[in-house]
Amino acid sequence: MCGIIGYIGKQKASPILINGLLRLEYRGYDSAGISTIEPEGLVVMKDKGRVKNLYNLKGIKDLKGTIGIAHTRWATHGKPSKENAHPHQDNSKMFSVVHNGIIENYNELRILLENNGYKFYSETDTEVIPNLIHYYFSKDTIEENNKTKFLRAVRNACLDLQGSFAIEVISSLFPENMIVVRKDSPLVIGTSDDEKYISSDIPAILSYTRNFYFLNDLEFAILTSNSVEFYDTNLNKITKSVQNIEWNASAAEKDGFDDFMLKEIYEQPTAIRETIGSRISTDYSCDIEGLNFDKNYLNTINMIYIVACGTAMHVGLSAKYAFENLCKIPTQVDIASEFRYRNPIINEKTLCIFISQSGETADTIAALKLAKKHGAKTIAITNVIGSSITREADYSLYTHAGPEIAVASTKAYTSQLILINILIIYFAQILGSCNDSLLLDLKKEILELPKKLEETLKCDTQVKSFAQKIYQEKDIFFLGRGIDVATAQEGSLKLKEISYIHSESYPAGELKHGPIALIENGITVISILTDSKLVEKTISNIQEVITRGAKTFVVTSQKMNYNMFDEVVKIPETNTFLSPILSIVPLQLLSYYISKGKGLDVDKPRNLAKSVTVE
Ligand code: F6R
Repeated sequence: MCGIIGYIGKQKASPILINGLLRLEYRGYDSAGISTIEPEGLVVMKDKGRVKNLYNLKGIKDLKGTIGIAHTRWATHGKPSKENAHPHQDNSKMFSVVHNGIIENYNELRILLENNGYKFYSETDTEVIPNLIHYYFSKDTIEENNKTKFLRAVRNACLDLQGSFAIEVISSLFPENMIVVRKDSPLVIGTSDDEKYISSDIPAILSYTRNFYFLNDLEFAILTSNSVEFYDTNLNKITKSVQNIEWNASAAEKDGFDDFMLKEIYEQPTAIRETIGSRISTDYSCDIEGLNFDKNYLNTINMIYIVACGTAMHVGLSAKYAFENLCKIPTQVDIASEFRYRNPIINEKTLCIFISQSGETADTIAALKLAKKHGAKTIAITNVIGSSITREADYSLYTHAGPEIAVASTKAYTSQLILINILIIYFAQILGSCNDSLLLDLKKEILELPKKLEETLKCDTQVKSFAQKIYQEKDIFFLGRGIDVATAQEGSLKLKEISYIHSESYPAGELKHGPIALIENGITVISILTDSKLVEKTISNIQEVITRGAKTFVVTSQKMNYNMFDEVVKIPETNTFLSPILSIVPLQLLSYYISKGKGLDVDKPRNLAKSVTVE
């Protein structure tokens, strides 16, 4: 939610900031703004709408300052407007601030400040921050006017804030410095010899540096172009080491594809190959670096919770089948925002697995903290090294999908699926809970999957031409049985997100208990059939909708009479537990081409943002 970028160095800041904002637009795109330190003081320029509106503002190209902060907004408090866009300033225009997150007690703080003579010009929660900094700065009676006083004012202001925040502050009084801080909202500092780049997301600044500092909650960094000092909440100096990120800059470019989403769909064979890595070796041994579970411990687990949001939660729905069948451990899948408020039964015999591409999803992190508080062991599956979730979880397992830029998740999903299946195999192997030949078959299949995924992508043209027939529809249904229900849910979510077509997904056998009332002549029903044990039953359910006039699109790895259906996409056969990794691909492409057919912005669908760092 919202993107933050900052620069402090020797070059003009504004082009670097605009470039960074363009890369961050997938985090929010309601309005954008920048503030730089110019010879005459702080300058703020902002506008409603996309970054290109900001870029076209008169005077923006004349900015010469070499220190600046910038923001692209996903509105929470206050409608998208120029007034509500960041940066915000205090009344005396001494401080400029950009902020990601939500200040929960902003009303209370606003009243306090108003009682002290401060005026407010926006509807945002953020505007309290620069004014609070000014309040503490002007009240500070210590006879010094150096960066320590600046830091103290920012620290005092932050201690008053409840909620989540990643903040950048610059001041006309301290033209050499920038202060940044975070709590429950991502912020990274990229560093090279005499330049510093700040961002809410690694990919936005990957073309400048691969060396990063990661801040923990309520750690403050005070930057100059060639130094970064870190402080804890008590303003004691702390040391941090630089971490090198392996992602290369071109991974965050479109590389000739029209959209990031299509590029990322096509990157899936590589992404899963990288994620498998050496976790399953060619001699079919399975090991997960960083995990050292033994049979005694695994035997004590009486419940596995898989907790996540959206697409990541659908990974859990697929994995539940394999955990229960192969490891014989009861497994429950929870939506993170529900889990945290439903008093789940958690104790030291519970294992909780949290899945999050970004590693920054507020609900998932809150659920993780809750699980830890009740004594559960926690594993995070994430794509982003150094993300918040990795600092909270007992164990962090990384997918190696590379940066995922499109809002609609594709390669992260299939990488998460492969990783969780490897985890399941690792558990089953230690537990001895399923027969060796099945485990061997699964390992062999996993090593085959990158090739099978490449094969699956060949359905592109077929799917595209079907999308051209149905892109104007208003409602589309997705059906599946068993593990295919999870794929139906994910296919339906993908379609909603980027095509704005209403869609429902149902277990095929549930249809006749209500939803079949919605089936009418010409409606499209998409079915996924990968489980040989259930295929006949699903076909019967499809017959029921055909009888009522539905158009049918089938994704299957199974042999059957294809003539019954309007369109059949044949995908390679694999073990049922792994089949969602292949069966989702035609559905990703279908959503993509429907969205393109409607002329929509595939990568930046309305109302959505890539990383949901608010509750
Ligand atoms: C859908 C999508 C979202 C995310 C969800 C969780 O395409 O991307 O549903 O899966 O917001 O995000 P992460 O995985 O970053 O926790």
